[in-house]
Amino acid sequence: MRLDEATWLEVDAYLTHSRGILIPVGSTEQHGPMGLIGTDAFCAEKIAQGAGEQINAYVVPTLAYTPAPFNMSFAGTISVSESTFELLVSEIVEGLLSHGFDTIYFLNGHGANLAPLKRVAKKYGSEKVHIKSWWDFERVNDLRSKYYGDWEGMHATPSEIAITQATHRVVEPGLALWPPEPISSEFIKSHAGDQHGPPHQHRQQFPDGRVGSHSVLATVEQGATLLRAAINAVSHDYEALLKIHPMA
Ligand code: NI
Repeated sequence: MRLDEATWLEVDAYLTHSRGILIPVGSTEQHGPMGLIGTDAFCAEKIAQGAGEQINAYVVPTLAYTPAPFNMSFAGTISVSESTFELLVSEIVEGLLSHGFDTIYFLNGHGANLAPLKRVAKKYGSEKVHIKSWWDFERVNDLRSKYYGDWEGMHATPSEIAITQATHRVVEPGLALWPPEPISSEFIKSHAGDQHGPPHQHRQQFPDGRVGSHSVLATVEQGATLLRAAINAVSHDYEALLKIHPMA
């Protein structure tokens, strides 16, 4: 259920039986030759909205303007500073808390959001602010490795491209027909949370925007399966949290 399509009276009524809410967080950045600029935002949004429908939870409008400085050498990327993003998220959390929401569940789709989101969770308390990325769930991860193995890589991943193929559109692969430079598991570990270099260096290292991800392996059918798995996982996780915090 979309919060922006509800009236205040409907939200008031919802708060008498639930204090939980979902917040999708993505990015607006290049995703390689065949990935949409909104990939991270679309994945988080469709998964959160799917879960919201399944378990009758409100979902707020997606946060799509987030930090992605390393991709600024690619056209279409819009990046805001970590401090701007953190301040925005803090004020959104404060607003929701003031209305009586007490289980605020961020569903993340972009590595660079994690550090600022974790700082916000620390500030308001981890019993109130929860953060999950859609790839955190075991069933989703099993599918990713079954479908793509090491070719999942780090950016413009076939799994995220597959989800947007199922939810939005399929783009001709072009340059993505050729496999990207493979990256090591050490590289993935040391660059977790999108700890990449400055824009010009990042583009020099990954000229078509993919970071070890063989995007062309994505299919619409896999996307639909990944989406369903993620929606179910988020639904269960969210419901379990609400049961831990029963309403007074
Ligand atoms: Ni992405």
